[in-house]
Amino acid sequence: LVLVIDFGGQYNQLIARRVRENNVYCEIISYKTDIEEIKAKNPKGIIFTGGPNSAYLEDSPQMAKEIYDAGIPILGICYGIQTMCHTLGGTVRKGTAAEKEYGKTAITYKESRLFEGMTTNSVWMSHTDRIDTVPEGFEIIAYTADCPVAGIQNVEKNLYGVQFHPEVEHSQEGYMIIKNFLYNICGVKGDWTTDSFIKDKVAELKATIGDKKVLCALSGGVDSSVAAVLVHKAIGDNLTCVFVDHGLLRKNEGDDVERIFRNTFDMNLIRVNAEDRFLGKLKGVTEPEAKRKIIGEEFIRVFEEESNKLGKMDFLVQGTIYPDIVESGLGGESATIKSHHNVGGLPEDVDFQIVEPLKELFKDEVRKIGLELGIEDKLIFRHPFPGPGLGIRVIGEVTKEKCDILREADAIYMDELRKAGLYREIWQAFATLPDVKTVGVMGDERTYAYLVGLRAVSSSDGMTSDWYKIPYDVLEKIANRIVNEVDGANRVVYDITSKPPGTIEWE
Ligand code: XMP
Repeated sequence: LVLVIDFGGQYNQLIARRVRENNVYCEIISYKTDIEEIKAKNPKGIIFTGGPNSAYLEDSPQMAKEIYDAGIPILGICYGIQTMCHTLGGTVRKGTAAEKEYGKTAITYKESRLFEGMTTNSVWMSHTDRIDTVPEGFEIIAYTADCPVAGIQNVEKNLYGVQFHPEVEHSQEGYMIIKNFLYNICGVKGDWTTDSFIKDKVAELKATIGDKKVLCALSGGVDSSVAAVLVHKAIGDNLTCVFVDHGLLRKNEGDDVERIFRNTFDMNLIRVNAEDRFLGKLKGVTEPEAKRKIIGEEFIRVFEEESNKLGKMDFLVQGTIYPDIVESGLGGESATIKSHHNVGGLPEDVDFQIVEPLKELFKDEVRKIGLELGIEDKLIFRHPFPGPGLGIRVIGEVTKEKCDILREADAIYMDELRKAGLYREIWQAFATLPDVKTVGVMGDERTYAYLVGLRAVSSSDGMTSDWYKIPYDVLEKIANRIVNEVDGANRVVYDITSKPPGTIEWE
């Protein structure tokens, strides 16, 4: 076990992730945690995170001096190195305008076990305060043009610190610093894997939930699916999943969810076929936000009705993952955490305790866990799909006829992307059905049918994106197949707008 001590930095979860990437188990805990409690956990090493405070101010977060004498190797990062210096008798002060460093910075490393094997010299800096003098027993092991103390060590006591952020990708070979700390300095083995994550999580879920009843809103998306399977592994039939099929899903999607969860995993699954109900509410509605609101509200209503039928449920599983959580404030317990519900917005005033087994993980880690749990590839590598589904991909009024045309076109599109080996390379791809009919000719006959729009984007988070350059021959094949095979569609266009100024969805 390695402990990451949270001083309120932005990159805390990233540090934890870097530790896990080295197959080392870690936990993030608040700097307020009692030292005896920390010692009782018997950590092989401790990492202090960055944070927004100034170490030299009276009420800034600090750890008592004892922690440095506990014989546990410590690596302080950013605020972490500053608080270490301040507490042990060095001096930290506010930097002048010229001394502040933000962004990519050239650095010189001296000989240290922390920097073993490193060949580059560019790191990511983000600090205002600086260290003037280091505590007794410490030596300087790195410096930059504006920062004479960018790295320190006290080899005898196994205390290390860096002013920059080795955990971010912009710090070249930064991952090696974390690795060197873990393997060379803490002497950990690196035998923790996704398999161990599952075992630990299952044990934890068993302990938290006991024999209480748990409800899960399954959407068929990666996150809620992995969360559900994990909880099912822990508590079996005490978990009931409710899957609201709003009729706005892609081709075969509802059946796939049923097959996977009912057959493969033998879970209690309630599928609510509510297509008529949703389409009824959407009749005549064309404005995108109005459609979203109707679908979201109806979803809650259906879900509530189903859960009421089940009687008292104690816990609700949510597939929240780390990027869904916006954290602010300090040190865990005082943080205000805003979770966004990825299942179209669940009731605010639920009478459940929330279980979020994936909340410290990043998407690719969730995928790995899902594969390890035996969930099929197709579901694990599925592109993101909006809660309102085809409701916002059928442009204008949503009807069953239009949804069916779109489903067929989209299925052909995905099929061809998979065949061309492009599906996993693309962040998100889908077909849309604008409320436009165009004239065409097939054989000797005039056609008058819908236009299909194709969209494919590359992105890392959906916040910005570029249009994906699908090779012409693949586009040609997709267009040919759609026009030939889909009744009701006779023309295909490809969207080449980036975001911004466009959005990914058309509505
Ligand atoms: P936009 O269209 O805003 O989409 O560029 C960014 C990402 O968010 C998804 N999206 C939604 N997801 N409910 C959701 O759950 C929604 O109403 C919604 N609108 C857009 C979109 O698919 C893309 O991945």
